Amino acid sequence: MDTVVSGIRSTGNLHLGNYFGAVRNFLKMQNENRCFFFIADYHSLTTHPHPENLHGSVKQILSEYLACGIDPDKATVFLQSDVPEVTELYLLLNMNAYIGELERTTSFKEKVRQQPDNVNAGLLTYPVLMAADIIIHKAKKVPVGKDQEQNLEMTRRFARRFNQMYGVDYFPEPEAYNFGEALVKIPGLDGSGKMGKSEGNGIYLADAPEVIRKKVMRAVTDAGPEKPNQKMSEPVKNLFTIMEVVSEPSTVEHFRALYHSCEIRYGEMKKQLAEDIIKFTTPIRERILSISGDNQYLRKVAKQGAEKARESASRTIREVREIIGFKPF
Ligand code: TRP
Repeated sequence: MDTVVSGIRSTGNLHLGNYFGAVRNFLKMQNENRCFFFIADYHSLTTHPHPENLHGSVKQILSEYLACGIDPDKATVFLQSDVPEVTELYLLLNMNAYIGELERTTSFKEKVRQQPDNVNAGLLTYPVLMAADIIIHKAKKVPVGKDQEQNLEMTRRFARRFNQMYGVDYFPEPEAYNFGEALVKIPGLDGSGKMGKSEGNGIYLADAPEVIRKKVMRAVTDAGPEKPNQKMSEPVKNLFTIMEVVSEPSTVEHFRALYHSCEIRYGEMKKQLAEDIIKFTTPIRERILSISGDNQYLRKVAKQGAEKARESASRTIREVREIIGFKPF
């Protein structure tokens, strides 16, 4: 049995990118592995959420995890902030993480550009906390989307460095995992880049049908192909990428053929795409609504998850303290 860890930050609801990049694989992995799926609420503090909103966001993601089919009796489902052991490992790993390598991380550089007024140390050390999340359970596999590749590289580096520093073979080096396939990147509807919570270009699992229709109909396209088999522009390719994950293969083929024969009407394609997304998200949305109204159930799930996660994490902390040389008198 492999140990699997993955998490999603509690900033905004889950979108199709989260689902197809990560959660879909959580579901596939939960039966046959020792899985830890958590809500990265400490990580969400880098963008300073209002105290009034923090809990609501966590509750929403927890409800969404469960609504998607993550089974708390198979996987350990928990909140990062319920496992304070992770902050101890974070502190310890920070001693071996170098400012230069952290500053060179793409996601850090991006954040510096996006929020120049809030370049806090938590942002800089984000990959260290993420490494702690993963290696505290000695995970081998981390189901994540393509955007997390570099963070996983950092995790491996910190794990390796710890082992070398103390001459031990303690932490395994985990990998970003998608069943041997390329990591998934679901694009946004604005013509370029990934679907992201901070990009404002996403379709959320909890979006109502009218909202989905509106968003899809407004998606960026182009003036249409002018000659047969013309290479697709990025915005159009993106629409097809989304269609590939939610629609029937025959539907995708139908519109692909129309594109290549220059007969495509993007409006029609979008209409179909919107309906297919709605068909996919509607049962999930209904479950989100019912689960998020059941506080007692959520409390039980979070408590059970926290206990299991702490048990695993505290064992690691005990051993790591020993390796580093902390000793009781
Ligand atoms: N960085 C991830 C994201 O933005 C969230 C995350 C935090 C994570 N810790 C993790 C993912 C550990 C996998 C494993 O989505």
